[in-house]
Amino acid sequence: MIEVISGTDRPDSHTLKVANYVMGIYREQHEAVDLIDIAKLDMKDVATGDYYKGPQGTYKEAEARVAKAEGLVIVVPEYNGSYPGSLKLFIDYWRYPATFEHRPVAFIGLGARWGGLRPIEHLQQVFGYRNAYCFPQRVFLSNIRSIFKDGKVDDQLLHGLIETQAKDFLKFVNALKAQGLDANTRIALAAANAAAAAKK
Ligand SMILES: Cc1cc2nc3c(=O)[nH]c(=O)nc-3n(C[C@H](O)[C@H](O)[C@H](O)COP(=O)(O)O)c2cc1C
Repeated sequence: MIEVISGTDRPDSHTLKVANYVMGIYREQHEAVDLIDIAKLDMKDVATGDYYKGPQGTYKEAEARVAKAEGLVIVVPEYNGSYPGSLKLFIDYWRYPATFEHRPVAFIGLGARWGGLRPIEHLQQVFGYRNAYCFPQRVFLSNIRSIFKDGKVDDQLLHGLIETQAKDFLKFVNALKAQGLDANTRIALAAANAAAAAKK
């Protein structure tokens, strides 16, 4: 399952519209895909700030889906030269290493002029630090207000870039899995080894 994360809590965001559009592209590739919409997370669930207790409520459900995903596609807008605080709050409740480490992640940015270059680079720092597999083919969508029409990216070049990213990201995910290098395979293997050791 590929989880597409819509990376803002702003109501009626362009980010959510693009995330839904990206899901359609993955479905065209016959890939199982689901949406994690940051706007649906209830901040009251983490109001105590007890990070070491782990995610609660809606955050817990969403984090569990991230922790099982074969790949993550993060659609992220630029807010004040970075990515939204609501996305960072969610990420800060992910368990390490299980949720981050060796998990493939692709990025699509939205911004007025630079198409989300800065939020993506900031996210690459976070995911690189946490040993995720950052897919190097990034997509930057500038002037999203004028290029997104009738539920789609109305620009052939950008549509092609998103489609190519999706096809190549799936190959990347499958190549890692085929070699047993992905997070899910490693976690399953570690659990099997621990169970075998416990039997001895
Ligand atoms: C709080 C806030 C800060 C923003 N800061 C920037 C910014 O620094 N640079 C930029 O290009 N766009 C900025 N924008 C515009 C969004 O990046 C732009 O509208 C984006 O393409 C889609 O955002 P949306 O998903 O909230 O609709 C900002 C928007 C908001 C709500």
